[in-house]
Amino acid sequence: MTTESPAPAMPAGRPGTGSAPGTEIPAMGVDELRHVQLERLRATVRAAYDNVPHYRQAFDALGTHPDDVRSLEDLARLPFTSKADLRANYPFGMFAVPREQVVRVHASSGTTGRPTVVGYTKRDIDTWADLMARSIRLAGGRPGDIVHVAYGYGLFTGGLGAHYGVERLGATVVPVSGGMTERQVQLIQDFRPRVIMVTPSYFLSLLDQMESEGIDPAATSLEVGIFGAEPWTESMRQEIERRTGMDAVDIYGLSEVMGPGVAQEAAATKDGLHLWEDHFYPEVIDPITEEVLPDGEIGELVLTSLTKEAMPVLRYSTRDLTRLLPGTAVPAMRRIEKVTGRTDDMMIIRGVNVFPTQIEELVLAETRLSPYFQCVLRQPGRMVELTVLVEPLAGLGAAEAEGIARGLEHAIKTHIGTTCRVEVREPGSIERSIGKARRIVDERPKG
Ligand code: DLL
Repeated sequence: MTTESPAPAMPAGRPGTGSAPGTEIPAMGVDELRHVQLERLRATVRAAYDNVPHYRQAFDALGTHPDDVRSLEDLARLPFTSKADLRANYPFGMFAVPREQVVRVHASSGTTGRPTVVGYTKRDIDTWADLMARSIRLAGGRPGDIVHVAYGYGLFTGGLGAHYGVERLGATVVPVSGGMTERQVQLIQDFRPRVIMVTPSYFLSLLDQMESEGIDPAATSLEVGIFGAEPWTESMRQEIERRTGMDAVDIYGLSEVMGPGVAQEAAATKDGLHLWEDHFYPEVIDPITEEVLPDGEIGELVLTSLTKEAMPVLRYSTRDLTRLLPGTAVPAMRRIEKVTGRTDDMMIIRGVNVFPTQIEELVLAETRLSPYFQCVLRQPGRMVELTVLVEPLAGLGAAEAEGIARGLEHAIKTHIGTTCRVEVREPGSIERSIGKARRIVDERPKG
């Protein structure tokens, strides 16, 4: 077993700002970055091959070897890793260090079967804290801020990931976790946080709670919202910013690759998420042919960890759909476009591919509807049928609500190209979540 550090030292951060170097947004150029990536990739591949039987078998099956990785392009010769591989090696079979060196585990529940377990060494936790601190900084957070963390604490990576990042940045963390909505609002009023970190769907519930108590969300201390863990649209950003006057920015991550803080949107540009490429190498592939696509083309995001010790991941298929774009706020690091869907969330209705985010855009465009909605899938006969559940704002008459529903059906047909039913429910009756919203309710017969 190798216990050697696979990564060369982090390049120093910008001097003179007085915070830990690891939390600074790296100022390196593209050439230096590619050099760092290759060195780290080779060390990661070697550690995975030497210490994880799954990787050794997968390499051997493809007739490839760590020594074949001489350039970043050679990554394309390596096997993909999927959630199924993690499940098959449940619970600790993907670890590349002795279990005693794993200081923490997290797990994602998933809808079926065993959870996927991930592990971190002390240094992995440190890197994660650095990257989260960087992310919060890029989002507009600063040392000295008060940060309200309403991502769930526990096996989910959201709460603890954010928590360590806030501390590392030198800000004050309020570890509220999800739920107890009234108390959340009270704490926001009393502690006056400048930053909130929460899923966008739960933030909507916090806004509703404020409004029901006569609190104007635009008058609170909140200036920055760091929203992620689920897809959300530009329309949702506009809705949140309009109601609060805050900067709403996107954060992306997944437990298998680390947790939150894999990519972060800059408050200054709000143009997609900078991927922390000194720690993760991105590829976008065609989900059907598995061919690597050029930057700019939409496909499935595949990530390779470059510095993880406990559980390196090689070419992990995220199932998230996006494309790679050149850096802006952080020039050397590429951006991913806002993730608008997962291959698993794609509904095929009468031959048309539909994502819940497309429905979200249209629901939010109708200002007389609340932003809550669900897509129910049923299959009474041969065809899959989609019913979209929506809620009017309180005080709307039945006839007007029906008119809105027919209008939305028409908009879905025109803009997305599929026929569906829209059902109007009582205000407040559509399921609220305290974490990730459940957008698809699958009522089709199993099996
Ligand atoms: O959701 C990690 C996280 C926590 C990210 C807090 C951001 C904030 P998992 O539970 O493993 O980890 O779920 C990962 O959630 O593959 C995406 O499908 C989805 N996801 C995460 N962030 C975004 C985002 C956390 N900003 C899965 N936009 C990922 C769209 C997102 N989808």
